[in-house]
Amino acid sequence: AMILYQDQFIDREQAKVDIEDRGYQFGDGIYEAMMVYSGRIFLLEPHMKRLERSARELSLSLPYSVGHLTENIKKLIELNNLEDGVVYFQITRGAAPRQHFFPDNTPTVITGSVSVRTRDLTSRPKGIKACLADDIRWLRCDIKTLNLLGNVLAKQKAHVSGAGEAILHRESTVTEGSSSNVFIVKNGQLVTHPADHFILNGITRLFVFDLAKQLDIPYVERKFTVDELLDADEVFITSTSNEVNPVLQIDDQIINNGKQGPISERLIAAFDAEVE
Ligand code: PDD
Repeated sequence: AMILYQDQFIDREQAKVDIEDRGYQFGDGIYEAMMVYSGRIFLLEPHMKRLERSARELSLSLPYSVGHLTENIKKLIELNNLEDGVVYFQITRGAAPRQHFFPDNTPTVITGSVSVRTRDLTSRPKGIKACLADDIRWLRCDIKTLNLLGNVLAKQKAHVSGAGEAILHRESTVTEGSSSNVFIVKNGQLVTHPADHFILNGITRLFVFDLAKQLDIPYVERKFTVDELLDADEVFITSTSNEVNPVLQIDDQIINNGKQGPISERLIAAFDAEVE
C-alpha cells in the first residue's frame, strides 16, 4: 500500500520513523481519522478544521496549508483506489534530541495511510455492551493528540470484560467514551456532555446535532451523571468509525430491555440516508 510521508507518496515498507521522533517518545502530535464512502471523504471539512485547531492549541506549526494537506489526503485515497475505508492522518512535532521542551526549527513529520473497511449494513451490529471506567485522562481532552494511554487503558478494560466500549466518568459526571462521544435519551430529548476541555468535540457528535435538528428531536449539551446514564431510555455512542451505535448494556445494567430504541433508530436511518 502507498502511504503519505511528508509531501510524498511512498510504499509503506520504505517509511522510516526516527527513534527520537517526538510522536514516538512523547505522544507529541495530533491526528484525525476520517471515513471514506464511495471514494469520498465524509465530513472532510470539519475534520480538517479540528486538525487545525489541535495544531494551534499545541503550538504546532503546520508546514503546509490545510488546503495542500487535504489535496495530499485525497491523492492518497486515489493512489490506493480506496472506495470504502478509513484514512488516518497524523502530524508529530518531528525528531530532535530528547528534551521535553519544544525543539527549534525542527520539521514536523506527516504521515497518512488508508485501510479498507466496507460499510455492510446487513452485518452491522444492532448495539454494543459497554463498561464504566474512571476517566483518568488529562484536562485537555478537547485536543486530538497522539497521547492516548488513558483511552487505551479504558478500552482494554472494556475489551477484557467482553464490552465494545468504556464509558468514562469523572466522579459522578459522564464525560465520553474511550474513543467515542456518549449520548443519552430521556423523555424524547438527547443529552450529551458540553464541548469543553473534558471531551473531544466529535465530528459525528456535531453531525448528530444536525440530524436531530432535521428530525425535530430536541437536544441539550449539559453534564449528566452515571445514575442518569444507567436510568436513560436509550444510550448511544458516536464516532467516525462506529457512526451512531446503540449501547444496550452497561456493566450489569440492561438499557431499554436490551433493544435499540426508537430515537437511536431514527438517527441511524437519517445517518444512512446522508451517506448514500
Ligand atoms: N476516535 N472521543 C474520543 C476520545 C475519540 O477518540 C473519538 C474518536 C471521539 C469521536 O470523535 P469523532 O466523531 O470525530 O470520530 C470522541 C477516533 C475514531 C479514533 O480514535 O480513531
